Amino acid sequence: MGLQFPDGFLWGGAVAANQLEGAYNEDGKGWSTQDVSPNGIKGPITETPTEDNMKLVGIDFYHRYKEDIKLFAEMGFKVFRTSIAWSRIFPKGDELEPNEQGLQFYDDLFDECHKYGIEPLVTISHYETPLHLSKHYNGWVNRKLVEFYERYARVVFSRYKNKVKYWLTFNEINSILEEPFMSGGIYTPKKELSKQDLYQAVHHEFVASAMAVKIGHELAPGAQIGCMVLSMPTYPLTPNPDDVIAAMEFEHKNYFFADVHVRGYYPGYMKRYFRENNISIHMEPGDEEILKHTVDFISFSYYVSTCQTADPVKLEARGGNLIGGVANPYLQASEWGWQIDPQGLRYVMNMFYDRYQKPLFIVENGLGAVDQLITNGHGEKTVEDDYRIKYLNDHLVQVAEAIADGVEVMGYTSWGCIDLVSASTAELKKRYGFIYVDRHDDGSGTLERYRKKSFHWYKEVIATNGQSL
Ligand code: BG6
Repeated sequence: MGLQFPDGFLWGGAVAANQLEGAYNEDGKGWSTQDVSPNGIKGPITETPTEDNMKLVGIDFYHRYKEDIKLFAEMGFKVFRTSIAWSRIFPKGDELEPNEQGLQFYDDLFDECHKYGIEPLVTISHYETPLHLSKHYNGWVNRKLVEFYERYARVVFSRYKNKVKYWLTFNEINSILEEPFMSGGIYTPKKELSKQDLYQAVHHEFVASAMAVKIGHELAPGAQIGCMVLSMPTYPLTPNPDDVIAAMEFEHKNYFFADVHVRGYYPGYMKRYFRENNISIHMEPGDEEILKHTVDFISFSYYVSTCQTADPVKLEARGGNLIGGVANPYLQASEWGWQIDPQGLRYVMNMFYDRYQKPLFIVENGLGAVDQLITNGHGEKTVEDDYRIKYLNDHLVQVAEAIADGVEVMGYTSWGCIDLVSASTAELKKRYGFIYVDRHDDGSGTLERYRKKSFHWYKEVIATNGQSL
């Protein structure tokens, strides 16, 4: 018997508005934190958008989405994950009325998806806080953000309730601990930010997220609303019990976010951490009640696993998906130093499912690599990306293993199904797509789209519901 994926498994791809739409100042859009981040998390941020910022044009999805959705449909996508750019709907973030042109764009985009039977999966906030909310309110440190986000969420749930069934409240919500500006719009430089303010910002996001679950269920009956966390299975570097505890404590920092979303209250281990670090979370009356509006499913990104040790000598820096750790001597890494561990995906799926018994949705996974556009024997321009096919194939086999373990999985959307600008390094040369986009980091390129070898491979995977893996 081959690999088994359930009937109705939601195969597809994922992107985020700020990494591909471009049109950063069209149709009333305000500036977001990404529009002043030409170097990704390496910084520095700029006062105003600058030409070297690849995201200002992205891959011009804003104007070419019809062509792109058609290509996704050709691959057989059942679902397409994208985000709504908050600053298209509320250009500054604190207005009372939304921008109709921004709303219309997403109406058209979702209609285009439905034309091909593709279900949109929408992230309400994906690393693109309106810049004004960051500069004038200091992002999520300020309680006012809960009110602004709630207004924004009400507008999008009401507007798209008949077009969008699957929603995510915050992309990789736990990444705020490492990237407070990109993830939480917090303008205070990271090294000056107190733990008190950081965890207060986290609390505000939790309240906003639970509020979105509540109002989403009220306004859009039938909507399924999930949290989205950056998953990173953490192995002890050695069997030394000190390392095991170091790994457990590191994992707690990440589980904390899913725990609150799924259980509806703060876990004891975080209360201890707050006590020991003199952090006191200010809760407003009603916050504890709001948190009880828990999510319908858990979604997560998975790129890498990591190791932890209690030995400070071995704690050397390692590349990774925003959150670090210690290199695993048994694993190879991508060109960007991200360690590749397909079995880690099966492991983390089991961990989440054992902990929560809620459906899971893998909404990001993929390989960022340098691609070479060539002309093949049939005279077609393409990329022979066998390395990407191998990466994705190996990971999907492990998804099937987890399903065989009894884990309930709603779907899989590979990251950057069409080449786009990377989040951490703001580059175009770090490509994830099944579709090559002719645009380069010096701004050159025709923006033409070309099917890579992996395009045909994924089409077959979807058509056979995973049997071809
Ligand atoms: C996740 C983000 O961190 O990983 C995406 O949710 C991001 O926005 C993806 O693009 C891959 O990271 P990067 O830095 O290679 O683009």
